[in-house]
Amino acid sequence: MAITPTRSIWKDGKFIPFKQATTHVLSHAIHYGSSWFEGIRAYHTANGTAIFRLADHMKRFHQSLKVYRTTLPHSVDELSTAAVALLQRNELSQAYIRPFAFRGFGNMGVYPQNNPLEVYIATWEWGAYLGDLAAEMGVDVCVSSWDRITPNSLPSISKAAGNYMNSQLVKMEAIENGYAEGICLDTYGNVAEGSGENIFLVMDGEIITPPSASSLLPGITRDTVCVLADALGYRVREQNIPRAQLYTADEMFMTGTAVEITPVRSVDRIAVGKGKVGPVTRKIQKAFAQVTVEGNDPYGWLTFVPSSKTSPKASSQTKQLNRKK
Ligand SMILES: Cc1ncc(COP(=O)(O)O)c(C=O)c1O
Repeated sequence: MAITPTRSIWKDGKFIPFKQATTHVLSHAIHYGSSWFEGIRAYHTANGTAIFRLADHMKRFHQSLKVYRTTLPHSVDELSTAAVALLQRNELSQAYIRPFAFRGFGNMGVYPQNNPLEVYIATWEWGAYLGDLAAEMGVDVCVSSWDRITPNSLPSISKAAGNYMNSQLVKMEAIENGYAEGICLDTYGNVAEGSGENIFLVMDGEIITPPSASSLLPGITRDTVCVLADALGYRVREQNIPRAQLYTADEMFMTGTAVEITPVRSVDRIAVGKGKVGPVTRKIQKAFAQVTVEGNDPYGWLTFVPSSKTSPKASSQTKQLNRKK
């Protein structure tokens, strides 16, 4: 999806013009992958523009660097305040927010700690990640021939850019074989996650998802779904999921900031349930839309952004769900 330039990007406490957000080709991150990021959505809700689970994302950002013996020089509060100010400055009423940090220019060699850490936040408008019809119709996915990274080689709980080399292999293979997304197994053959999404199955009225030990990023949308499903009266369990269970589930959906809650209608061309979006998935999508579309916030997940001048533009998934109501 093409990025539309905005007025500013936030860099270590200052706003800089979009075009000046550049880096040297000999920066450490380019050669050795020393970079971490977050992905956050701001929704144009019925109660105004609001950022979804902002502090939780910024906390995970801190944790991602901690795994690599690195401390972010900006607190969760500072980063959160900066994200709100950036949205206002760029006059975006719904957006994707991308905080990121990387090791910059200075020294060559694998050891990273002698290179400066640069911290940025960028924002842009972003629609439906898997296409406009994904939320409504569901998508077709495959099990990837690539395994997910292993916990003791590249820790998946750190949202490090290098992990996404594995994701790129998965995604390219899936697209070239005609699927919307690929699902990785962990080294034990259990389901881990998609190239950029967590996985949920519905089986006999219960909802199951792989544990974080299965080489996955513990998604904030994943946690959101657990809370919403619990409130709807469903039992949610973390359990190891062998590959074959993908073929026998009644319903399946993927979650993530980019895909939100996207139903899966087939895996490896085998229909999930009846090959249509199931009732449990729909209920969870609806409960999610109560927060992100209606702006009802019983869980304290929304950070409202005092109004900017732009006209509201709903994301594709938001539009689909609005149409359903
Ligand atoms: C590999 C991977 N897994 C899962 C997720 C879902 O995480 P979240 O719901 O926090 O966006 C993402 C997206 O950030 C991801 O890149």
